[in-house]
Amino acid sequence: MPSKVLSAAVIGLDSQIIEVETDVSFGLRSFEIVGLPDKSVEEAKERVGAAIKSLKLFSPYQRPWKVLVNLAPADLKKEGSLYDLPIAVGFLIASKQVEFDSTNKLFVGELALNGQLRPIKGSLSISLKAKKEGLAELIMPKANAAEASLAILETRQNEKQFKVVGVENLKQVIDYLEGKISIAPFVLNQETLPENFPQPVDINYIKGQEYAKRALEIAASGGHNLLMEGPPGSGKTLLAKALPSILPPLTFEESLEVTKIYSVSGLLPKEKPLINFRPFRSPHHTSSEVAVIGGGNPPRPGEITLAHRGVLFLDEFPEFHRDVLESLRQPLEEGVITILRAKNYLSMPARFTLVAATNPCPCGYYGNPERKCICTNSQIRMYRRKLSGPLMDRIDLFINVPALKYEKLAGPDEEEATIRIRKNVATARQRQQERFIGEKTLTNAEIAVSQIKKYCQVDSKSQTLLRNYVDSGKLSGRGYHRVLKVARTIADLDDSENIRYDHLSEAIMYRLRNET
Ligand SMILES: Nc1ncnc2c1ncn2[C@@H]1O[C@H](COP(=O)(O)OP(=O)(O)O)[C@@H](O)[C@H]1O
Ligand SMILES: [Mg+2]
Repeated sequence: MPSKVLSAAVIGLDSQIIEVETDVSFGLRSFEIVGLPDKSVEEAKERVGAAIKSLKLFSPYQRPWKVLVNLAPADLKKEGSLYDLPIAVGFLIASKQVEFDSTNKLFVGELALNGQLRPIKGSLSISLKAKKEGLAELIMPKANAAEASLAILETRQNEKQFKVVGVENLKQVIDYLEGKISIAPFVLNQETLPENFPQPVDINYIKGQEYAKRALEIAASGGHNLLMEGPPGSGKTLLAKALPSILPPLTFEESLEVTKIYSVSGLLPKEKPLINFRPFRSPHHTSSEVAVIGGGNPPRPGEITLAHRGVLFLDEFPEFHRDVLESLRQPLEEGVITILRAKNYLSMPARFTLVAATNPCPCGYYGNPERKCICTNSQIRMYRRKLSGPLMDRIDLFINVPALKYEKLAGPDEEEATIRIRKNVATARQRQQERFIGEKTLTNAEIAVSQIKKYCQVDSKSQTLLRNYVDSGKLSGRGYHRVLKVARTIADLDDSENIRYDHLSEAIMYRLRNET
């Protein structure tokens, strides 16, 4: 009788249960894996064979056995080395060399030739699935157990007891399943989880630039996208890197979401199973569309997904390839990216705050009072062309970052800046949370045009101001909506129910560059 062992496939960020069926009959010696295995799955045969031999049991090659392994569902492509363990276990059961109950258990793990288990990618995604399916146990390499056991911390009602068993080698798996040894399920010590990861740059460290810091505060509060323009060395990169330090902390659910992404990408630091800080990603401007957006075969999350719930920083913004910039439109609008993969659509989350930085021209000194620009007019025009158009329409805040004078640069730090700004951001987020109760919207930046009337009322004096700007052509229709959303955030920062005239005029200030 064929044996049946459960395993999993990671598709995009989510996992699916895979049944590993093994049939062993007498006949011409053969060992075959079917069910759309890729090369790495094919090679499981060699690893499984050697690992079993090392236990002094018979490998599929050592008897006149005809071994057939079927990975079901058969029409889904299987990739990776994680099927080594379930294939080994399934074969040992089907060839009657071991006897135990494998139902309700899910197996994943890569085997070394000596039977040791090597870590795999995506273990959190797999354990979340196993738990959701009501399975009792996940048996996996010990190195992955901490990460997988995060799923246990996720609270859901009516879920059965679920445990993660971390094992070192194939022998341990068999001894454990045969009841010869006991292995305590992995229990995550919550105390060892880092409270809040230190951010790369603390805003305290940045001298002067009050205007830019204010813009960062607004961006952090309302989730608004930001473009900074200024000469080289004025501190644009530094400012962008400081944004995560003032963003609100991740909730546990958000942490799990982000951790899952990094786990699938194989980017999870070993000593930190849980990512509980906001990601900051800054892909180089030569990055390909696949690297930024995601995709490929098998599909991998791109930079925009790695920046989910955090910051995507595009430095030297106009230097990015046009296709890359174009494909940012969907995620900026919807918070997800859809990738076509072998006739199927695959969605991955990509809700990030975009921070873009640019020099005013290729040499960096156009319009600079201190230093002469050496670019030709057509060079400047070419460069700035990318700073208009559909992508720019999705940016709410435009600011100039001038070079600092010595006096400021050498001056004292503003020590309380981080604490003060974080407090304001928390106030603003609190107001938004109350405003959007029962809705999918989280921040003001996500307010739809149809909701603007409801959430962004202004008084008659403010209406007159807006009318002047729109009628004189200084503010476009789209700019008008963006200004109202930013004004809503500024009012929230002020803990004000209504958008006042001063809130609106400040919001307009961050808009004008793009309109002229
Ligand atoms: N406001 C500032 N406060 C402290 N250091 C600064 C400031 N602005 C610039 N610097 C210093 O100058 C360096 C270059 O800044 P950077 O952010 O890379 O400039 P840009 O990205 O605009 O070219 C920073 O690493 C930092 O040491
Ligand atoms: Mg820079």
